[in-house]
Amino acid sequence: RKPMSLQRLLDMHASGDKIAMLTCYDAAFASLLDDAGVDVMLVGDSLGNVLQGQTSTVPVSLDEMVYHTRCVARGRKSAWIIGDLPFDSYQASPQEAWKSAAALFKAGAHMVKLEGGGWTAPVVRFLVERGIPVCAHLGLTPQTVTMLGGYKVQGREEAAAALMKQQAQELVAAGAQMLVLEMVPSALATELTQTLGIPVIGIGAGVGCSGQVLVLHDMLDVTPGRRPRFVKNFMQGGAGSVQEAVRRYVSEVKAQAFPQDELHGY
Ligand code: KIV
Ligand code: NA
Repeated sequence: RKPMSLQRLLDMHASGDKIAMLTCYDAAFASLLDDAGVDVMLVGDSLGNVLQGQTSTVPVSLDEMVYHTRCVARGRKSAWIIGDLPFDSYQASPQEAWKSAAALFKAGAHMVKLEGGGWTAPVVRFLVERGIPVCAHLGLTPQTVTMLGGYKVQGREEAAAALMKQQAQELVAAGAQMLVLEMVPSALATELTQTLGIPVIGIGAGVGCSGQVLVLHDMLDVTPGRRPRFVKNFMQGGAGSVQEAVRRYVSEVKAQAFPQDELHGY
């Protein structure tokens, strides 16, 4: 495969070719995901939950994100790598965000992701103008789950939906080149995908997005305990191997067979 590029991701969005993204935290999985056709690997701060056993992503450090980004970059062949900026690595100032983003970029990320609405727009602009592509993240933003009052759907009421649209436009105007929407009503996510002009990657946001992302350990059914509604277990239904489960995920995302709004959407 040719190395994935930002232009190619924008082209996929424009032409309606669905983008298959999964989280990835180490070299072995990076190689496996890449071979299975995953377009984008997210070194997510969800590693705080799935690798570290924490109850939230808040305690994850920048050094830990740098370490896992390096591991993923070593196993990667052609997929696009996004590194999550963890809690307390970008909130205080654009300058702080720059130092953190640069650390992930030097570790091998092609793009960094940060959570939040309008207040992040100046941060996004600061990073993009200086050469680091940024993915925004709206809806359920796990780093601020305490403020949100729990893991629940965002943007259901009219006022909340209007605010999310405004925030998304501000982020695009600031130079964000991708947007993750988490736990957002399918109709709102579809509308944003059709209007923003950048790829919108959904997780619990319906089949109308430019692409999908899931936490690797969730879709492989390795995560202990209850799973959110938007997760599908790809080991179920006869996948004989991890490779096969990931290949199925990629093909179901590409064919818009996953997610199914009745089963996984809001
Ligand atoms: O950290 C993560 O895994 C994420 C995805 C859920 C989008 O941010
Ligand atoms: Na994250």
